Amino acid sequence: MTKKEVEKLRADFPLLANNPGLAYLDNAATTQKPRQVIEAETRFYEELNANPLRGLYDLSLRATEAYEDAREKVKDFLHAADSCEIIFTRNASESLNLVAFSGSEAFLSEGDEVLVTVMEHHSNILPWQHAAARKGAKLNWLECDEKGKITEEAFRSALTPKTKIVAMTQLSNVLGVKNDVQKFAAIAHENGSIFVCDGAQSVPHVPVDVQDLDVDFLSFSGHKMLGPMGIGALYGKKELLEKMPPFLTGGEMIEYVTREGATYAELPHKFEAGTVNAAGAVGLGAAIDYYNAVGIDKIEQREQELGRYAMERLKNVPHLNLLGSDVAEEHHGIFTFTVDGVHPHDIAAILDADHVDIRAGHHCAQPLMQFMHTPSTARASLCFYNTEEEIDQLAESLSTLRERMGYKD
Ligand code: ALA
Repeated sequence: MTKKEVEKLRADFPLLANNPGLAYLDNAATTQKPRQVIEAETRFYEELNANPLRGLYDLSLRATEAYEDAREKVKDFLHAADSCEIIFTRNASESLNLVAFSGSEAFLSEGDEVLVTVMEHHSNILPWQHAAARKGAKLNWLECDEKGKITEEAFRSALTPKTKIVAMTQLSNVLGVKNDVQKFAAIAHENGSIFVCDGAQSVPHVPVDVQDLDVDFLSFSGHKMLGPMGIGALYGKKELLEKMPPFLTGGEMIEYVTREGATYAELPHKFEAGTVNAAGAVGLGAAIDYYNAVGIDKIEQREQELGRYAMERLKNVPHLNLLGSDVAEEHHGIFTFTVDGVHPHDIAAILDADHVDIRAGHHCAQPLMQFMHTPSTARASLCFYNTEEEIDQLAESLSTLRERMGYKD
């Protein structure tokens, strides 16, 4: 991407345009939204607002059409086979709770095992802890090495004949490392295990093809990929989703209700109880249109270019310790670090005073923090609309941190 192209894209983002001088580098937490997304969501309420999937009148039918149109866009973006395999949820956490709850009811029995990796976000740990406890199953842990790599050898030796489910992130929200989920899913399948992939950090930044990866489930959040908050999705293979009981029960997820019981709606509606977030889905559809207009390959390329620049600048900041790989490309725009003698919360506060927004803390990945022997870290995460100048602003602010904390060198 040329400087001009980046400038043109940045102009689409009202928050960036309205805050000159702000370096927003917390994109792994949430991205900024282009006006196309904000306008699409507003337009739904201004022009289409009726309860979708219920009314027999034109306005409701048009609201339903807009909602289902968004599902098609998600299906195409993930290269899924069928739009009934796309379940709208609030976010990746809800998607993972859905698959852990309903999936464990269908596929997990007492004495079975679930394998999770040490680098998972809490959203891909807690639902499995609960599922394992409920079903009398055992939760096993797969370690990475100190640079964040999960080797094939480690994966194979963590699998047992009792491993029914493997839950693994495609891209770590702390280390930026990308797991070879295609390879791990194939090995899991040889073992007879179901493979659940958390795509919260990968779907926004790298091309994802669920059929090519052959993952059984994949979760993601709209708000991390230019879309609104409160909308996300779960992809699941049709034959598996069909075997699973509903997660939430209530309106529009039924076929027929009697005093004694109920039969459930077909996919995907079986998993979408209650009034849906149609405006959010439409906003997510607009975000996908935006991705398609720019091109996910181009986005990945730009973020790698920015990542290389960031790595160079951060390597030269005295007393800065970067977690994870020494190779810039393996960070996928996520740089987590500590600075000797400065608490990460102080790092974030001082950077905030310099108009640089980063995240500090445990990043909802405490088992990984324990594994890395550090309770807290600072994290800068990039998006294609960031600029080299913003990375300079980050590096310059970091370079004077210790001095401002009273250190002499
Ligand atoms: N999961 C988000 C993050 O890593 C909130 O910051």
